[in-house]
Amino acid sequence: MNSKPVVWMNDEFIPWENAQVPILSHGLSRGSAIFEVFGTHTRDGQTFGFRMDAHLRRLERTADLLGMELKFSSEEIAAAVAGLVDRNKCGRGIVKIVAFWGEEAVINLILESKLDVAVFTIPASEELGLDKDAAISACFSQWRKLHPETVPVQAKACANYLNSYLIKKDAITRGYDLGLTLGTDGFLAEGAIESVFMVKDGILKTPPLGRILASITRDSIVRVAQDNGLIVREIPLQKQDVYEADEMFTCHTGIKVLPIRQFEDRDLKAPGPVTEKICRLMENVMALGDPRYADWFQKLS
Ligand SMILES: Cc1ncc(COP(=O)(O)O)c(C=O)c1O
Repeated sequence: MNSKPVVWMNDEFIPWENAQVPILSHGLSRGSAIFEVFGTHTRDGQTFGFRMDAHLRRLERTADLLGMELKFSSEEIAAAVAGLVDRNKCGRGIVKIVAFWGEEAVINLILESKLDVAVFTIPASEELGLDKDAAISACFSQWRKLHPETVPVQAKACANYLNSYLIKKDAITRGYDLGLTLGTDGFLAEGAIESVFMVKDGILKTPPLGRILASITRDSIVRVAQDNGLIVREIPLQKQDVYEADEMFTCHTGIKVLPIRQFEDRDLKAPGPVTEKICRLMENVMALGDPRYADWFQKLS
């Protein structure tokens, strides 16, 4: 980034370089910060947030699951996002919201205070890789997805992302772009920072919620696919199901549909016919071209 945008932090717009916390803050030194990320999209010179309302609900849910409370309501954060997007002239890009205990916590493990909130806009760039669509390679990670009885996996908590770091590092070290995890129950879970879909005999399949993050992109794809006549099954998938998939793709808010061209030593058609149909449908939705999903876009500036 050349000129740094401003940051909204605790009801103030401040320079990017001033958005800092003490090293011994609970959020950093104990890893208790939580966050959300969603895309901003443009049409006719206006900027919209994609399903910002759902992302803000998930932020509240994360806080609830962890027994935390934010200093600001979803409405206040939504207004902050709009103000920031306008101020930073953010077009296509992402919004990242981080909520954290900024206080030092050397001894006290349990803080009672409400979480500070910071909002960042990050413009699209080559490095950010938004909208990339070149098919990728993937493998099963040697790491399992966190068990939901150890930490709430529905929570978008920074500490959970140590698991994601290991999954990604393992995949890259072994020469793959991306790693997919199995849960400790042996069923397919998700990627490091993405949900996963496979196609078998024309049917779209994805692991059910419960042991994975409730991805908003996953939810969008399921709805768009069903609304357009595709059969979707949210069912437990075994390792063998994955090895026998006809098509596979992953998704997250930055990259709506990313086909997998190679899974371990198997080549896959990428995109295969079902994946290609979903890519086209989602591209149209994301270009604000499908009025059925108009309420998925909140005008920000
Ligand atoms: C573990 C994990 N799964 C799935 C996703 C995709 O979620 P979303 O579609 O809400 O970006 C993410 C990204 O946030 C993630 O971190």
